[in-house]
Amino acid sequence: MTSDVTALGDYQFFDLKPARRDMHEEIVAGLREQNKRIAPKYFYNEQGSALFESITELPEYYLTRTEMAVFDRYREDLAVVIGGGTCLVEYGSGSSQKIRKLLETGQPEAYMPVDISKDHLQSNARALHRDFPGLSVYPICVDFTQPFELPEIANGWKRVGFFPGSSIGNFDPADAVIFLTNIARNLGRGAQLIIGVDRKKAADILEAAYDDSQGVTAEFNLNLLKHLNEELGADFVVDEFTHEAIYNEDLGCIQMYLRSRKDQQVNVGTETVEFARNETIHTENSYKYHVEEFQALAEAAGFAVRSIWTDDREWFAVVLLEVQ
Ligand SMILES: C[S@@+](CC[C@H](N)C(=O)[O-])C[C@H]1O[C@@H](n2cnc3c(N)ncnc32)[C@H](O)[C@@H]1O
Repeated sequence: MTSDVTALGDYQFFDLKPARRDMHEEIVAGLREQNKRIAPKYFYNEQGSALFESITELPEYYLTRTEMAVFDRYREDLAVVIGGGTCLVEYGSGSSQKIRKLLETGQPEAYMPVDISKDHLQSNARALHRDFPGLSVYPICVDFTQPFELPEIANGWKRVGFFPGSSIGNFDPADAVIFLTNIARNLGRGAQLIIGVDRKKAADILEAAYDDSQGVTAEFNLNLLKHLNEELGADFVVDEFTHEAIYNEDLGCIQMYLRSRKDQQVNVGTETVEFARNETIHTENSYKYHVEEFQALAEAAGFAVRSIWTDDREWFAVVLLEVQ
């Protein structure tokens, strides 16, 4: 018997967001180091997530467009990976736009967007559930750099991970192996992971992508200080810092910094931090990989490479991995 009525998918939100106290400790510890640093996960309050969406539309930011073109080009292969009976787990789901492209082809039963930006995660997961009513949607708010278990509700489906956008580049290679090892455990033996990797290319193309002519990436980087002001009661004067993005050829990595325009003191809660003029805070690395380099890294984390899909210019790779 057939029916025209599509079964309604389930919706449940899982809140594992770290406490504000942890954030304060981590930020102060990073600002006390000789080379000051703040982890890139702190870019993402509501405003930071919205600014990232604007970045993806910039002419210089080729990454999103190129990765989407690879999804289009290999849509039939992807449809096989995310066929019926699949639970798709997206790490760092953001606006959940890329998943919409995959949902045009494959038909998973469930989608688990995982993100640290709680409000952004909830509103986008709700919108997706409205637009794909047959799909069960289980958002999880968590810091994915720490090991965590998928909720039991993910049991019984074939698990497929999705980690697009070259977010793996935010880890240095040793931490990328640790992160991927955790993901392999998280998904379980035999599960697959579709991962987006930005490939090495000319420095001028890379630097323009992270320092655009409209200044949106600068605003995104500086918004991190606004986030700390709002969340931790810090008193950064945002205009007293500038944005910088430099390609380090030796490391194969774009490095983003905030540079202090003058000698200054900043209060972060009860702590005071001194900045000398021109001193920097390191805010993000974006490692670029040759395909062979990435393959070695994935294998070190317990994955086998099943497919490598790329674009005409060979600027970006979408790699299909399988947990061994
Ligand atoms: C660069 S955006 C990528 C968004 C989207 N996947 C894409 O490819 O366009 C990174 C996303 O990961 C999330 N994120 C960053 N660090 C995270 C962490 N440690 N734990 C969980 N989510 C994180 C951010 O909130 C943001 O939505």
